[in-house]
Amino acid sequence: MIPLFGRKLCTEVFPDLYRDDTAVMLCEKVDYDFSEMEKKSRSSFYRFGALEAAMRQLDIKWEIEDYLKENPNAAVINMGCGLDNTGRAVDNGKIKIYNVDFADIVEAREILLPNGDREESIATELSELSWLDKIDASRGAVFFAAGVFHYLTTEQVKRLVLEIGKRFPGARLVFDTVGRLGHKLMMKKVLKNFGITDVSGYFHVNNAEKELGDWSGNISLSHRGYMLGYYDLHTTGVTGFHRFLSRIGDGPMKMRIVRMDFS
Ligand SMILES: C[S@@+](CC[C@H](N)C(=O)[O-])C[C@H]1O[C@@H](n2cnc3c(N)ncnc32)[C@H](O)[C@@H]1O
Repeated sequence: MIPLFGRKLCTEVFPDLYRDDTAVMLCEKVDYDFSEMEKKSRSSFYRFGALEAAMRQLDIKWEIEDYLKENPNAAVINMGCGLDNTGRAVDNGKIKIYNVDFADIVEAREILLPNGDREESIATELSELSWLDKIDASRGAVFFAAGVFHYLTTEQVKRLVLEIGKRFPGARLVFDTVGRLGHKLMMKKVLKNFGITDVSGYFHVNNAEKELGDWSGNISLSHRGYMLGYYDLHTTGVTGFHRFLSRIGDGPMKMRIVRMDFS
């Protein structure tokens, strides 16, 4: 609900940068008490958190659309989709969209965001790799995970990445990462809510080349700053304070958008 509310908030406060009508509609439709979030949403710091959720979506959307220029009929796979609708935001009328998450999330999606013609849900634990059997990548595939890999261990992410690379040469994978410090500060509390107290084995990346570069010879790796790598954020509603925090995010927190192209 936090990224969903964040995207609704960004649609309202950063209108020239970001627009997510699905998030606005869902926040009205779901039976959830947003009043605490509404209260907090007046603070500049909270708005920065929402801006983070929006930038992640915009950056990943940029990478998907870039892939679709060459592969307009590709499969677009939203791993850990939650209530995010990026698949439809990049829909060119030809792609096949897969939304992948735990069964309860998929059930909620079926009520709130029923699948369209070229859309399919897959209810699974991401690290149970057999879900990949369901993907038709015959016309290309772009996989993405927005705010998801932090919940997996490095070993689980590596197995998933290597399996995607092995099964789908020519595919692209895009995901966000955060460094050790950012992971500790941002994820510790979240993971604790899931009963996880030792966060050390959970996925974070300080140096993408060093830590991910030797995973496999068939990966071409690139990465950009999460907050400022794609957009300069000189736009309505974004303050100097937000740009300052963005530099901290991309700098000491090492927030990145990582792209892997598999050969
Ligand atoms: C922070 S939310 C992000 C949701 C969405 N990607 C977005 O940007 O709004 C993380 C999502 O990942 C899903 N998730 C986390 N670990 C997972 C796993 N091991 N298998 C399947 N889904 C997972 C959660 O259920 C949740 O929907």
